[in-house]
Amino acid sequence: MAKGQGPLRTCVVTGAAGFVGSHLCERLLSLEHTVVGVDNFFSGHPENLNPFAAHPRFFFHERSVTEPGLLPGLRAQHGALFAVFHLAAIVSVPYSLEHPAETFQVNTQATLRLLEEAEALGVRTFVFAGSAAEYGDRDRMPLSETDANEDTRWLSPYGESKYWATMAVASRRGNLCGVSLRCFNIYGPRQDPFSPYSGVISRFVDMAVAQRPLTIFGDGLQTRDFVYVTDVVDAYCLAGLRDEENEATRLSGVFNVGSGRATSIVDLARLICRLTQQPESITFGPERPGDIRHSRADIEAITRVLHWMPRIGLEDGLARTIQWMRGSG
Ligand code: UD1
Repeated sequence: MAKGQGPLRTCVVTGAAGFVGSHLCERLLSLEHTVVGVDNFFSGHPENLNPFAAHPRFFFHERSVTEPGLLPGLRAQHGALFAVFHLAAIVSVPYSLEHPAETFQVNTQATLRLLEEAEALGVRTFVFAGSAAEYGDRDRMPLSETDANEDTRWLSPYGESKYWATMAVASRRGNLCGVSLRCFNIYGPRQDPFSPYSGVISRFVDMAVAQRPLTIFGDGLQTRDFVYVTDVVDAYCLAGLRDEENEATRLSGVFNVGSGRATSIVDLARLICRLTQQPESITFGPERPGDIRHSRADIEAITRVLHWMPRIGLEDGLARTIQWMRGSG
């Protein structure tokens, strides 16, 4: 929706201080909506809120999504809620392996309760941050939405907890439209490079900008589907702000969000060296345990139903990420 078009709405964003959540808040504010952000800073960073914290239409609550009555409380303070964008989660795969019960409590059970609260309050759309991890390890590419099912062998509680939440969201019928966006490897400004479990692009860009060698785990021929953060935000907005009069486009469902292209890790490393004007200084270490070999999204469904297309190619997105990393470093 272009700026100034359509009714202005109040949207809740959980995980507002996260990498993707903060970009989504900024976009919704730029579209002139009111944004009620929620985050407990478990993995989000207060600095991510800085660009819009003082915006007159932004309201922030330091709360956990596991608190019963969260949405009714926000409704009482901020009035009718049009959309809930639910991105808050335990996002670390290794943490989920160490804390499976907590992972299911946050990623699955809290989502089910938020869904029920949203339905009871007459919220129109509920958009959930699904994940490519819901597919487990599969040989056949590209991955289409039906490739995750009850027979999937998940590699982590993270992947399984996201799968069950996705199923609950996407099977919603009635007034509440539930959409789960299964995002592939998201990258871009504000992605934290400093955790050992950070995304490969934020790590490689950080290493290249600091003129340190890039470390590849394994032979580098494993492939991933990289999607730029503002393209992901486009998908959230298309899913969450759909024209409420048009019932045909208001069906619940699950959609992959990726570029539809596979890039090998070694090609990625070379490209980042070239874009940062560094010599190709690449080292190879042991394969990371539990790594999947290939991952690529089939994006036919989201293209057809939501008319979404990735707009930022890898080279362009990397250049923007490098520019941000240099500016913030
Ligand atoms: C991603 C998700 C993860 C999810 C999984 C499901 C991120 C950050 N992680 O993991 O939450 O469960 O998809 O499909 O998006 N690599 C290196 N050197 C490095 C860092 C990584 O060679 O310094 C390699 C990894 O071994 C891996 C590839 O790069 O083969 C991608 O790694 P990563 O960015 O961590 O993402 P996924 O493993 O795809």
